[in-house]
Amino acid sequence: MQTLRVPADREGIIKAVRVLAQGGLVAFPTETVYGLGANALDSQAVLSIFRAKGRPADNPLIAHVSGIAQAREYGRWGPLAQDLAQAFWPGPLTLIVERLDSMPSQVSAGLPTLALRLPGHEAARALITACGFPLAAPSANRSGRPSPTTAQHVLDDLEGLIPLVLDGGPSQVGLESTVVDVTGGHPRILRPGAVTPEMIAMAVGECQVADAVMRQLAPQEAAPSPGMRHRHYAPRARMTLVEGPPEAARERLLRLAQGRDDTWVLALEGLLPRTPGLQLRSLGRDAREAAHRLFHLLREADQQGVRQIYAQTLPRDGLGLAVMNRLARAANFNTIQAGETPDEEPMERKD
Ligand code: TXA
Ligand code: MG
Repeated sequence: MQTLRVPADREGIIKAVRVLAQGGLVAFPTETVYGLGANALDSQAVLSIFRAKGRPADNPLIAHVSGIAQAREYGRWGPLAQDLAQAFWPGPLTLIVERLDSMPSQVSAGLPTLALRLPGHEAARALITACGFPLAAPSANRSGRPSPTTAQHVLDDLEGLIPLVLDGGPSQVGLESTVVDVTGGHPRILRPGAVTPEMIAMAVGECQVADAVMRQLAPQEAAPSPGMRHRHYAPRARMTLVEGPPEAARERLLRLAQGRDDTWVLALEGLLPRTPGLQLRSLGRDAREAAHRLFHLLREADQQGVRQIYAQTLPRDGLGLAVMNRLARAANFNTIQAGETPDEEPMERKD
């Protein structure tokens, strides 16, 4: 199959609607990352998403809707969902509610709950509205790869496997939406994103963060969200986080990476000097810029055959929590404490 790439304009959207209405798959831009969409009401189309991505069958998808009215047709909509949707939709927030029978169970991988999101990206909204049906859409990457933040990333993973990519330029946020479970009457974050715990607490007075957000699940432990179980965002390079006060982190990062061509360091501006022999890649000035760049950098590292990536850690407040959640998972929770005695540093590439 040949994959067509067209601008996400009126004409492109008309093409996309035609493909989707016939049960086909279309990758489309959102403000977070690119999504791989299918008609959520067409079970066969939904199952083909899992095949194209190589996605584990137990990992549910997000239904992207055109508005609160459409969300209410498919999920049990309580006052908390209403308040959060009013505060943050359209935008990078996904709400987990009870699924109604009007939504095929394949979308939520058989779960009694359903993830709903109204994206902020104008072309995405125009597409869903023009379709008239909700779009089931995970991130448009092959399973286990970093989420795509450009149309080119989508092609790198899915060229030949899907008929159409709408190109809307680079995603503004760069990390996936915040996933919040509202089935319990209190908001509980299952995946942090650009709508932060602080923002949710401001809007509705409280916000919990599932503690599995920042640690590895034990083998037999129940996952609050199936996505936590799967390894995510992973580059092929071996990745390690270096945690500790700036002075110690700087010293440790230099010692680990200086003079090694096949080793990258990801750090915010100002932590490390730009020196010859150090493959420094900037995460930008703050968590917002780091969010925007992270997945792109991980993909670039793969393309260049980087064998080892060291990354500094960020404060876990605001958007920093989302960046740290992705970094920790990309590193498979592999962390060094700077300032403590060095362990053996394994160097081999894992593939
Ligand atoms: O920003 C985003 O959310 C992007 C764009 C395309 O909208 N989509 C995205 O989808 O990141 P995906 O499938 O890559 O991530 C959805 C996450 C997964 O971790 C999944 O396990 C979780 O949401 N999820 C979906 N439905 C769920 C449910 N019913 N209960 C708990 N977690 C759920
Ligand atoms: Mg994904």
